Amino acid sequence: MRYQALTSQVYIQHRKALAQQMKPGHFAIFNSNDIMPTSADGTMPFKQSSDILHLSGIDQEESILLVFPDASSSAHKEILFLKETNPSIAIWEGAKLDKTQATALSGVKTIYWLTDFERVLKTLIAEAKGVYLNNNEHTRASTEVETRDDRFGKWFRNRYPNVEIERSAPIMHRIRSVKHPEEIEQMQRACDITKAAFERVLQMVKPGVKEYEIEAEIMHEFLRSGSRGFAYTPIIASGFNACVLHYIENEDECKDGDMILMDVGAEYGNYAADMTRCIPVNGRFTSRQKQVYNAVLSVMKSATQLLKPGVLLGEYHVQVGELMTEQLLNIGLLDKHDVEKQSKEMPAYKKYFMHGTSHFIGLDVHDVGLWHEPIQAGNVFTVEPGIYIREENLGIRLENDIVILEDGHRDLMGHIPLEVEEIEGWMNR
Ligand code: GLY
Ligand code: MN
Ligand code: MN
Repeated sequence: MRYQALTSQVYIQHRKALAQQMKPGHFAIFNSNDIMPTSADGTMPFKQSSDILHLSGIDQEESILLVFPDASSSAHKEILFLKETNPSIAIWEGAKLDKTQATALSGVKTIYWLTDFERVLKTLIAEAKGVYLNNNEHTRASTEVETRDDRFGKWFRNRYPNVEIERSAPIMHRIRSVKHPEEIEQMQRACDITKAAFERVLQMVKPGVKEYEIEAEIMHEFLRSGSRGFAYTPIIASGFNACVLHYIENEDECKDGDMILMDVGAEYGNYAADMTRCIPVNGRFTSRQKQVYNAVLSVMKSATQLLKPGVLLGEYHVQVGELMTEQLLNIGLLDKHDVEKQSKEMPAYKKYFMHGTSHFIGLDVHDVGLWHEPIQAGNVFTVEPGIYIREENLGIRLENDIVILEDGHRDLMGHIPLEVEEIEGWMNR
């Protein structure tokens, strides 16, 4: 394995949390993701479904996890169905997980081969009151392509039309939003790798460098550290490009006098880091760049202090809007008149800060979580305010990943250069 796996204790605990939220007499089924095709005989690299990963750590295609806390046989309370290695697979791909390895990784004691699935399912249906099916219910999920969970759900409803169906997604959102200490350490590793990459960038950027050369420098550090690469498509945006929120071409030359916005994070062991930093191409901020940068930094620091157990994310976002408004007034981008005529639906600050400040992060960069319940210890959020001034070819966003503690917070990126003086120091060594 390229990464250090979490211990099976984590997955045992996660399945226990699932079982506690399930209705009596029901079982739940989770499928792997598909290996997505490209063209001809090409495929995308495999990316496991976060739900089965969260519950088992099994990072292999075509796996099925079944959790049946009230099963009559103790061997059937938790079952993994895996693809069996055959001679052809062994030659072309290498061996798949064997039963001992799968148990060691997941803590699931009963491992069957996939070929046994329908037979075992039939016997379990006979004693079940209902079944939980899984579906990606992220509020912004792309639904155009059917997942393996979706296809399984269709097959299941057709095969067992009279069985009562429940949704596992709300439970998964609840249990995935509170991280186990080992998960936090895995996220810390992703952030440490991201730090090392950013420090390389600080030492190589100069006028004339291409955005994709910076991307390559970062990827180099990620891969050599055991990461599989970027946790999401990286944004390396110099000058005006930083004002295009989802700029991912990373194709332009970085020009003397411009700033570069870098929104990059390493994946490590399937966990995401999500960092944004902005640096001057020539190693020195102009006074205007510094002014806007420090305005964003001030909002970032104050917003971080607001994230505490008990706080509602909706109210937090309104408060951050107020902090941003104050900064935009300070730096002359808004005036009193703009603020007087703003409405609740269209606050004046949105002209320069169009996106949200925080999202859940974990196995997915925009992780699932409970948006309408009070923040809890163990939640992990980004804090990422920004100011985008198209007429000045200047976009600044700063982003750290923050763990909520009972009595405060832990900044997983608190050791990554952030202050203007630190950035200039690194760039002019
Ligand atoms: N990198 C995506 C985001 O910041 O949300
Ligand atoms: Mn983010
Ligand atoms: Mn980001």
